[in-house]
Amino acid sequence: MSTATATRPRVLSGMRPTGQLHIGHLLGALGNWVRMQDDYECIYMVADLHALTTGYEDVRGIHANGIEMVADWVAAGVDPERSIIFRQSDVPQHAELAQLLGMITPLSWLERVPTYKGQIDELGEHLLTYGFLGYPLLQTADVILYKATRVPVGQDQLPHLELSREVVRRFNHLYGPVFPEPEAIISEAPLLLGMDGRKMSKSYGNAITLASSDEEIDKQVMSMVTDPQRIKKDDPGNPEVCNVFSWQKLMGASDAEITEIFEGCTSATLGCVADKRDLAERVKALIRPIRERREQLMVDPNNLEAILDEGAERARAIAGPVMAEAIAAMGL
Ligand code: TRP
Repeated sequence: MSTATATRPRVLSGMRPTGQLHIGHLLGALGNWVRMQDDYECIYMVADLHALTTGYEDVRGIHANGIEMVADWVAAGVDPERSIIFRQSDVPQHAELAQLLGMITPLSWLERVPTYKGQIDELGEHLLTYGFLGYPLLQTADVILYKATRVPVGQDQLPHLELSREVVRRFNHLYGPVFPEPEAIISEAPLLLGMDGRKMSKSYGNAITLASSDEEIDKQVMSMVTDPQRIKKDDPGNPEVCNVFSWQKLMGASDAEITEIFEGCTSATLGCVADKRDLAERVKALIRPIRERREQLMVDPNNLEAILDEGAERARAIAGPVMAEAIAAMGL
């Protein structure tokens, strides 16, 4: 490694292996991960322990989902040579450091994290566990075990990062300056709604995943809701309220193309069906190369396991010494 690369700030981020990634992830978090590789030393983690905090009752999918997710990452451009890709449970120091952080974290800090009460209200009482309460501490351990200073996350994760910073300050205050305070880098979530206008989610069946076939994309896009006031083709439409139009703007259409679509819609010369066909072509062009790489990768999942094994080795080589520092600082 050259000295230039050795001094780049270190990034750590993770995703829970809870289901297939979709085009919203690609244009949001995952796309950012790919781009960050140019400027940062990146560590990307399959947060399988975190998946257990909410999904402990049915654990069958965790391992396989992790492999599929890594296929998505690599197919989208996360490079296992330049970046470290690993599975959280392969590096035992995550659980170990989270346990130590638990010694110094007041319960009230954890109880007031907004996602804590929010998720319990939304998902139910099975989340009233010690592990779920400790979710942000495990996340803190994920980051500081590598002394990462940048954490690309969505807006929803900011309270977790805030808690991480507080815990780091408390640790350093009690035991000396071991850990840097990590900083969030907000991944702008793209304004891509699902086909039905609701939040895009695999579980709503309204998402285009990175594994979607051309046929599936056609079907999904043709089912999209357009301007509800535009009933007949000769009715002029309002692109500002049309989900298809907001997608087109994010799908790499040029300014001239966008203007043409806008004018076609408002003058009723471009019909909704033709417009959706245009969008479907753009989506297919975006997804196709990723899907094809993904399929190739999934032909032999052992290669993906090997990426994770090698990543875990590299991760442990960083985490081990940092853990030793924390243990010594705590007088153990
Ligand atoms: N909690 C994050 C999420 O749900 C996933 C995550 C786990 C994470 N560990 C992390 C993100 C460490 C950033 C850094 O999106």
